[in-house]
Amino acid sequence: MSTAPITRLAVVGNPVKHSRSPQIHARFAAATGHAVDYTRIESPLDQFVATVRAFADGGARGCNVTTPFKGEAFAACTRLSDRARRAEAVNTIAFEADGWFGDNTDGAGLVRDIELNAGVPLQGKRVLVLGAGGAAAGALGPLLAARPAALVVANRTPARAQAMIERFAAGAARLDAPLSATALETPGAGFDVLINATAASLQAAVPPLPAGTLKAGALALDMMYGAATLPFLRWARAQGAVARDGLGMLVEQASEAYFVWLGVRPGTFQVLTEMRREVDAQVSAQVAEAARATS
Ligand code: ATR
Repeated sequence: MSTAPITRLAVVGNPVKHSRSPQIHARFAAATGHAVDYTRIESPLDQFVATVRAFADGGARGCNVTTPFKGEAFAACTRLSDRARRAEAVNTIAFEADGWFGDNTDGAGLVRDIELNAGVPLQGKRVLVLGAGGAAAGALGPLLAARPAALVVANRTPARAQAMIERFAAGAARLDAPLSATALETPGAGFDVLINATAASLQAAVPPLPAGTLKAGALALDMMYGAATLPFLRWARAQGAVARDGLGMLVEQASEAYFVWLGVRPGTFQVLTEMRREVDAQVSAQVAEAARATS
């Protein structure tokens, strides 16, 4: 029997019961040979820091942080990676001897999914990001580092997009990457890549983009996955785009987080293939159930 110490990890959110992170990390642990116990913790909305502290004090190695706590996690960490500092959002905490180290692996996961899994190099591409919340902020730094020809952020509340890009202006200038903000209704035309980082899919809504926003054959990715993304994915296909949900990003950000805790970046191909099968089966069952309910 192995006597290796168990690395205790969790995802902290509210709600969190839908999270697939435990299955992903269990598969990574099986592949890398680590003894990992990764659970879900639903934190009361006003008790995030106390909840994480109790977990850390129990000897845990770290945690992922999900909605709605990424901003609070950012504020609570004593040390931050550059990408977390710029995003002002933390999705991965490592409990260290000298405090909590906060990182943000979402944007790196997104870029890896687009470039490696979807096979679309971002360099020289026109990229449109919808949304100006934590999800969009996490993506901007890694997207800029991938050297797009243009990076436009469009948001329902344009002032929020403008405020967000100002935090990234110096980095964009260093990389010579044109970064701008606009309203959802006036994003510009002919984008190669569209990333939906809004919460619209949660309301089964599709952001109101004008015709011609996307080039034919563009990649249109929603950061969410499951049945909620179906309206966006249908809309994207109707525009002649290649539609993609956020499952690949989820698996990639998890691999990056695993590296933060355990120093190994697990391979994602097999895990993504298995998760894809599970999610597609669940979505099909939900669609069939909804059709039965309305017939
Ligand atoms: P998160 O941290 O998950 O990004 P958030 O900070 O609440 O969540 O941000 C949600 C984003 O989705 C915002 O950009 C929001 O637009 P506003 O800044 O105008 O609020 C956007 N959003 C939410 N519902 C939307 C909808 N139905 N259509 C378009 N954008 C929407």
